[in-house]
Amino acid sequence: MILVTGGAGFIGGNFVLDWLATSDEPVINLDALTYAGNLETLAPLAGDARHVFRQGDICDRALVDELLSTYRPRAIVHFAAESHVDRSIHGPGEFVRTNVEGTFTLLEAARAYWGTLEGDEKAAFRFHHVSTDEVYGSLGPDDAPFTETHPYEPNSPYSASKAASDHLVRAWYHTYGMPVVTTNCSNNYGPYHFPEKLIPLMIVNALAGKPLPVYGDGKNVRDWLYVKDHCAAIRVVLQKGRLGETYNIGGWNEKPNIDIVHIVCALLDELRPDAAGSYSRLITYVKDRPGHDRRYAIDARKIERELGWRPAETFETGIRKTVEWYLANPEWVANVQSGSYRDWVVANYGDRDASRVQVTA
Ligand code: NAD
Ligand code: DAU
Repeated sequence: MILVTGGAGFIGGNFVLDWLATSDEPVINLDALTYAGNLETLAPLAGDARHVFRQGDICDRALVDELLSTYRPRAIVHFAAESHVDRSIHGPGEFVRTNVEGTFTLLEAARAYWGTLEGDEKAAFRFHHVSTDEVYGSLGPDDAPFTETHPYEPNSPYSASKAASDHLVRAWYHTYGMPVVTTNCSNNYGPYHFPEKLIPLMIVNALAGKPLPVYGDGKNVRDWLYVKDHCAAIRVVLQKGRLGETYNIGGWNEKPNIDIVHIVCALLDELRPDAAGSYSRLITYVKDRPGHDRRYAIDARKIERELGWRPAETFETGIRKTVEWYLANPEWVANVQSGSYRDWVVANYGDRDASRVQVTA
């Protein structure tokens, strides 16, 4: 059994689906179901005894203690976070609460639980902290990509809160000997991505004939990784990563935002042509994000060298799969856009086996 936090979000949801597609080891999934949590993503697991969903807050120490003592997981994979930079600019408080206080609460609960384990169980236990490349700050055009030893220079409330959580995890290793590993990944894209982030927003806005808002001059660079490659990397680090280490994860796919938007438009032009003309006609430059980091790029050689992980998808194959997924799943998109995905929890899970799915929404 593993405990996953934030397993109803974009990456956590993909991780839980992929985990149970590749293994029979059960998952206890703790997620608060904020606006970003969507149990519809986990619909393929409805009725699957290997998946236990529990709605709750990682800041709730009593709840986390209860889950650990009841299910006795061999590992915690910690995804739960407030994740959107723009939201962190408008309301940083929730980011400090979930990302910093929540990680602290989880670490303390894990430390107490780990202290009760003995022998092989104790030696095998892992706390895997899922983090981001944004903690390293912004690169100049000719700077080398981020390595694991790059200084921490977070620039947004989001990245500052994630940096703080990374520091807590590191300190729990050095001070208490907690068996932790941290991964810092670049921008993910793929199925079940909430359409507030660049790629899914461009797809759903284009299909709705709405403007495609590009911040600033559109030349900020991100390094893109297909979400299932990120999930595979986490599985490898959980299995073979060295304790107390951090591993950068990235796809060697640096691209300016405006190129991404043009690629999405070209795929939609091919797969769902619009009689009004190319979707690129909808591109609209808008006011820049405050403190907008110019460039991220990940040097992923350590995880490749030490653990043998490499991405399976190129950007070309991954983005095609992503656009095809959004075209094939209009109901998921419509329910997110209307907000009815939140009612779906009660509609779909309300009368199911309460021992497996415990929701309060
Ligand atoms: P997301 O916003 O899609 O999902 C976050 C999930 O956490 C949601 O299901 C939400 O309900 C849950 N959650 C939020 N606050 C909670 C709380 N207090 N208690 C319990 N659950 C709570 O995020 P994501 O994009 O899937 O990111 C997952 C993790 O990966 C985050 O830690 C993020 O920092 C990191 N990350 C994301 C990316 C990316 O490109 N999306 C890249 C690198 C790292
Ligand atoms: O680098 C990893 C990070 O990637 C993760 O840690 C974050 O959780 C995740 O949200 C993502 O952060 P970004 O800020 O890079 O992602 P976002 O999709 O919000 O923006 C990507 C780029 O596109 C960024 O340069 C801002 C720009 N952008 C974004 C939106 C939403 C636009 O130009 N227009 C938009 O409407």
